[in-house]
Amino acid sequence: MRYNIAVLAGDGIGPEVIRETLKVMDKVGEKFGHEFVFEKLLIGGAAIDETGECLPKKTVEKSLGADAVLLGAVGGPKWDPQPANNRPEKALLGIRKALNLYANLRPAVVFDELKDASPLKSEILQGGLDILIVRELTGGIYFGEHGYRKDSAGAEFGEIAYDIEEYSQMEIRRIARVAFDLAMKRNKKVTSVDKANVLESSRLWRRTVAEVAADYPEVELDNLYVDNCAMQLVRAPKQFDVILTSNIFGDILSDEASQITGSIGMLPSASLTEGSFGMYEPVHGSAPDIAGTGKANPIATILSAAMMLRYSLGLSDEADAIEAAVDHFLKSGYRTFDLQASPEHKVVGTEETGDLIAQMI
Ligand code: IPM
Ligand code: MN
Repeated sequence: MRYNIAVLAGDGIGPEVIRETLKVMDKVGEKFGHEFVFEKLLIGGAAIDETGECLPKKTVEKSLGADAVLLGAVGGPKWDPQPANNRPEKALLGIRKALNLYANLRPAVVFDELKDASPLKSEILQGGLDILIVRELTGGIYFGEHGYRKDSAGAEFGEIAYDIEEYSQMEIRRIARVAFDLAMKRNKKVTSVDKANVLESSRLWRRTVAEVAADYPEVELDNLYVDNCAMQLVRAPKQFDVILTSNIFGDILSDEASQITGSIGMLPSASLTEGSFGMYEPVHGSAPDIAGTGKANPIATILSAAMMLRYSLGLSDEADAIEAAVDHFLKSGYRTFDLQASPEHKVVGTEETGDLIAQMI
């Protein structure tokens, strides 16, 4: 089969980790008899430099026409002077919205070989950790009304700014269904995270999630306030299976959860819409501080490609092959620069990591 993949490498280490990922995918294609056609498109700072716009129309159109989208990372200090509506981050929000990618899946997994990398005491993670954060991605405060004004009555308040958190039942229902469907394939537990003791939008969230839960009698539903959840994640993370939450809470909690694993350079993510289409990217950012040094860890992006094969292309054996190769890479004693290494480990750079994993497919 032939598959069209839109490839949005972006900025910083984005192009470096994407290069290694395409290498691995080519190997998968060769081995399993598929042709992956990669269409490279501009996004973020790279797009600003080339076209003046952080998200060119062509990028959106070609992405919509592809079978799936693979993204590196966007942003860097070079584009800090850009106006708010043309920053690289804006491109990310823009493409999520344009492709209607409302369901963001962010696994926080402790890899067997890396269990000592977590900053938490090992007894807290005894037996491993496998949390899936389901973050609503196209609504809430990110996309509510934003406003700015100067105090017209005088100087007392000075400047005033606001951002509105707003959720509809439709938006809550569809993301809740994603979480419950996934929980059915996992440990059948959903923790919905909100701030219903303070926010009206959270009270609607909690009520609506409870309604959806009625369709999933086998799944246990818990509700937690976000401040408590932040605490529980470091106190007893193993209590969680699927965490279902809003755009901004999911943004914050997924960073926290990724650090608990100690290996953010290893974590993939998927952003999905109705049907099988989706966009796949590493959880980490563009890391401008190490761009060009050959030290970036491409594994999060390689594992994102595995998620893409599984969810969007229906190629689960191929996805398993990538995950097995990553496992084999670690078991063979290889470590990337971001991972804790002892004297018996072989520390390898971006390109060698891609070569080795491709070889191990
Ligand atoms: C993320 C990032 C983005 C977000 C930024 C870059 C807009 O932090 O994907 O988590 O807040 O969603
Ligand atoms: Mn974030």
